[in-house]
Amino acid sequence: MKKTYHIITIGCQMNISDSERIAAYLESYGFKSEPNRVKAGLVILNTCGIRQKAEDRNYGLIPEIREKNPLVKIILTGCLAERKDVRRRLDKVVDIFLPIKNLPELYRELGLVKKINKTNDYLEINPKVNSKFSVFIPIGNGCDNFCSYCVVPYARGREIYRSASDIIAEAQKFIKQGFKEIILIAQNVNSYKIKAAKADLKFFPNKKAGEEINFPELLVAAAKLTGDFWLRFFTSHPKNMSAELIAAMKNNRQICRQIHLPAQSGDDRILAAMNRKYTVKHYLSLVKALRKAIPEIGLSSDLIVGFPGETKKQFAKTEKLMRQAEYDMVYLARFSSRPGTAAAKLKDNVSAAEKQRREEALNKILSQTAWKNNQRYLNKAIKVLVQEKNKRGEWLGKNEQFVTVKILGSAKENLQGKFVRVKITEVRDFGLTGVHLSS
Ligand code: SAM
Ligand code: SF4
Ligand code: F3S
Repeated sequence: MKKTYHIITIGCQMNISDSERIAAYLESYGFKSEPNRVKAGLVILNTCGIRQKAEDRNYGLIPEIREKNPLVKIILTGCLAERKDVRRRLDKVVDIFLPIKNLPELYRELGLVKKINKTNDYLEINPKVNSKFSVFIPIGNGCDNFCSYCVVPYARGREIYRSASDIIAEAQKFIKQGFKEIILIAQNVNSYKIKAAKADLKFFPNKKAGEEINFPELLVAAAKLTGDFWLRFFTSHPKNMSAELIAAMKNNRQICRQIHLPAQSGDDRILAAMNRKYTVKHYLSLVKALRKAIPEIGLSSDLIVGFPGETKKQFAKTEKLMRQAEYDMVYLARFSSRPGTAAAKLKDNVSAAEKQRREEALNKILSQTAWKNNQRYLNKAIKVLVQEKNKRGEWLGKNEQFVTVKILGSAKENLQGKFVRVKITEVRDFGLTGVHLSS
């Protein structure tokens, strides 16, 4: 086997972050990155199964890679690695099915000799981060919530959280290296909970060993690190959203004025059928409390259209919720039945055309509320973290609220990974344009 690797990542931030740990692991065993998947000795597919479309990408890709690169070893990891039906279907074309938690054991399957002092917890592996200024730090893995439509609890197992001192030390290391954006991630960040161990007390001097550390406390400890950075976190579950978390955001300016709080539906009966464990009234009370504490907050959500049995009346309540919540961004999904989930037993009875119509109707509302919200930036100077150039050579970045900002007037300077101030001169629904004032 050639000691080169190529990773294909499909799915969410968790998979992007896991791929960075896979790369670091393989490099510690002497593998080199190969940009061309047809030439690589190892191809790793980091898969997503959240919707049928994401899953189907693998069924096309794997045979194609095999055909063009007959000597390749194919590893399938991520959220499809443990599905029995997927294993059966791909048994002949995949060499190794690797549940991500077993990454530290991969050396065995590759016939290599174990490196000494290597951790058995894959989250402890030092990642090879793709960006030089923004990093995802997983604070845990898995999900205990079993929303009826969602495959994640089956794919990733129960919630397991990392020690607070490991997370804070990792954040500190990246800030010292000059990283400007630290993003704490987990399926449900705000259900983070651990018992303080001795090593944690350094960052939590008011705690005793054995006492609980929760997410707002972890967030505040990360926000108090010294350096030039800002802090984000994804994803918060409305049922675990607390006044303590809102206060932590309000009182710590290192934390971006942004929250992703997926509502999923605007109808209480659908929410109950989804097993979300909150009502629309409760959700809107959280939005109100967030906006009261932090008026400039950027608010985003996930919504599913066409859940089994969703009537036109129930859908109209989701439209109403969208108007009331006045989102900046919503990730809309058409219900996709997932094998093994509770909702897979229900009849997927909203037609594809109707799901499309509902998605389009919600998109229209989103475009209106996002446009209205963005008016607050017009003629204001705002802080932007510059990310990359677009095809026309103009710099693009994000503000604290996660709105994309196009920066005019500094095409020749290298602004990538820098915080700059930008005066906003033009406002659209999903973007702002402005002039670079200073770094
Ligand atoms: N943990 C987060 C949460 O609590 O909402 C995100 C989970 S999931 C990785 C991201 C989004 O995918 C969900 O919020 C949901 O809107 C969507 N999703 C999950 N399962 C789906 C399904 N079967 N069909 C359509 N959309 C789905
Ligand atoms: Fe977990 Fe529910 Fe989020 Fe799915 S949607 S990841 S089950 S909390
Ligand atoms: Fe993420 Fe997809 Fe898994 S969205 S958690 S990679 S199923």
